[in-house]
Amino acid sequence: MPLPLTTVLRASWRTFGLVLALSGSALAADWPGYGGTANELHYSPLDAITPATVGRLRPTWSTTLDVPRANSEPLEVDGIVYVAAGLSIVQAFDARSGKRLWRYDPEVGKVSGLKLRLSWGVRGMAYADGRVYVGTQDGRLIGIDAQTGKPVWSVQTTEGPDDGRYITGAPRTFNGKVLIGHGGADFSPVRGYVTCYDAATGKQLWRFYTVPGNPAKGFEDETQAKAAKTWSGEWWKYGGGGTVWNAMTFDAELNRVYLGTGNGAPWNWKLRNPAGGDALFLASIVALDADTGQYQWHYQQNPNEAWDYNATADIPIATLTINGRQRKVLMQAPKNGFYYVIDRETGKLISAEKLGKVTWAERIDIPSGRPVERADIRYQHGLTEMWPGNLGLHNWPPMSFSPQSGLVYIPTLESGGLFGDEGVDPRTWQHTPGAFNSALGPQYGEGVAPTAKTELLAWDPVRQQRVWSVPTPTPWNGGTLATAGGLVFQGHIDGTLNAYDALTGQKVWSYAVGNAVLGAPISYSVGKQQYIAVISAPPAGALAVLDGANSYGWRYRDHPARLLTFALDGKARLPALPKPGSEKPIIDPSFKVDVALAGEGAIVYYNCLACHGSNGISMGSAPDLRASAIVLSDTAFKAVVHEGTLVARGMPAYGELSDHQLLALRHYLRSEANRAPK
Ligand code: HEC
Repeated sequence: MPLPLTTVLRASWRTFGLVLALSGSALAADWPGYGGTANELHYSPLDAITPATVGRLRPTWSTTLDVPRANSEPLEVDGIVYVAAGLSIVQAFDARSGKRLWRYDPEVGKVSGLKLRLSWGVRGMAYADGRVYVGTQDGRLIGIDAQTGKPVWSVQTTEGPDDGRYITGAPRTFNGKVLIGHGGADFSPVRGYVTCYDAATGKQLWRFYTVPGNPAKGFEDETQAKAAKTWSGEWWKYGGGGTVWNAMTFDAELNRVYLGTGNGAPWNWKLRNPAGGDALFLASIVALDADTGQYQWHYQQNPNEAWDYNATADIPIATLTINGRQRKVLMQAPKNGFYYVIDRETGKLISAEKLGKVTWAERIDIPSGRPVERADIRYQHGLTEMWPGNLGLHNWPPMSFSPQSGLVYIPTLESGGLFGDEGVDPRTWQHTPGAFNSALGPQYGEGVAPTAKTELLAWDPVRQQRVWSVPTPTPWNGGTLATAGGLVFQGHIDGTLNAYDALTGQKVWSYAVGNAVLGAPISYSVGKQQYIAVISAPPAGALAVLDGANSYGWRYRDHPARLLTFALDGKARLPALPKPGSEKPIIDPSFKVDVALAGEGAIVYYNCLACHGSNGISMGSAPDLRASAIVLSDTAFKAVVHEGTLVARGMPAYGELSDHQLLALRHYLRSEANRAPK
């Protein structure tokens, strides 16, 4: 019998008025960076659209993006909207008319090799001085002329096609520089770093490693030597991790950048750090000098991180009045479920409180900044249940901070996880290329509860308490936008874009757009008109393993990614898309399913499910293979899957699969087709 994929696969993936001043950037009508302006607030100072006027919010123009996956967020500068989506295809549109000005395709499919198997797609880009910047899955950073769409320079920021590093996050620009990190530690033995380039020429200026390398090769600097003292064993063989795949914030007041670092690679600390030091700089916020990349301070949230927790969620910066004192702070709601407010001048923790169900720690000790961990969480005694699980209480979909309401608006997820490493021998464990880099045993993840709930949560960062919350459709939550009009915008997986009153949480507007809306919305003005723009597309990435992600009926060919724009009294209509509903599997009685082969195929299908969906049921970011005629043909299937005839369209090649494995896959897919309700 086919295995219950969703179960097993969870195993392998997984006050008001207290704000005195907005630091740094001036109020802007543009949206030139991933977090809006440099402070990464995901906040717009525009106020024409309010709870009173939002009823008049209507589409202005929309366009199909022609990319397989689109989790991303647009930019707008001087009347031009820029979008990078899917395999980093960048397009520019006139903000008033929606007319496409240019399209640039870096042809990621052709050069990505194994890295094409990653299922997320790029999340955003950056703008500065007449250029837009985008990273690619194969590890390039590309500067593009914003007027013409022609690439000005391109650098390989990773160490080649086989180093396991890829880029999904947005670069950040400041002081004539552009900064980029990468991901990859969940799949390969990767050592994390960020690299800073000259924005005009692409010349490398500095690089900072987030974990130390092999001591025998010598340390890059004093910081690396000090960090190495917190590791043991032969961690460098496993990479270490700590990748900066999402959050980087430039602080213009202090001329610093703050990095949010990732989890350990592999997750199992007994392999990579057997003596159990802190393992710096995993799951940390690290402050660097923006000119030189020199280390300033760090704050580690999870010493010797061991559960795929990370500090990679966005890091907004602000000035808050706390106990009568003005404090320059940075804030983060990382996976581990606490809300952290940190003094960004010193790196000292000011406060940290639980945002929801959090069982791994009792509390964070404020003077030392260290968590008071529950005694059994390092899987010393077999399987441990922990909340949050490795999805995190808040993942990368951006939260927003409104200086006007003083609240943060967080898309939360509540789910638990089971961690254990029985059956893994630290002395002999070897990473299997392409497999998940957890080093946890077969027990890991079994029987974990499905996502219990998702919420839009308004949180007071000064008092560290919940102000309001509203339930949102599960299992994944869209990023948020706060505006000076007193609104919070958020899209949902059910196909709606919504506006909530920022003070009360009352839903004041909702628009059915005909496709899931999971990227964060943005706002900008052109002339006197305030716009809201958002990308709508079926869910992508490892969301496929979440129960119910494929239950909304979004289909790859019927529900393409679109860029949607809205304004008060907008006159356009969104072109209607076919109604959502499950794909109709092909019925072919002549294909006799062999149950044993189908069982083997279910295992091979682990390679495919992040794009094609669990149990062969697509979420919409790739075709539903139960309904594919290609699966019926031995030769056509081999051409696509083995030879890679569709790589340019984002379908990776699996040259390593044998004819027997390909046959097993077909039997598995046909058995899932036959299982579907008629
Ligand atoms: C990174 C995402 C991704 C992964 C992983 C992936 N695919 Fe695909 N696949 C796609 C996309 C996107 C397409 C559609 C390409 C297009 O537009 O024609 C596709 C198309 C296909 C098709 C053609 C379907 C049709 O009817 O047009 C087959 C068959 C297929 N994939 C099989 C597989 C198998 C088997 C695996 C695992 C061994 C796999 N894919 C893994 C993204 C993926």
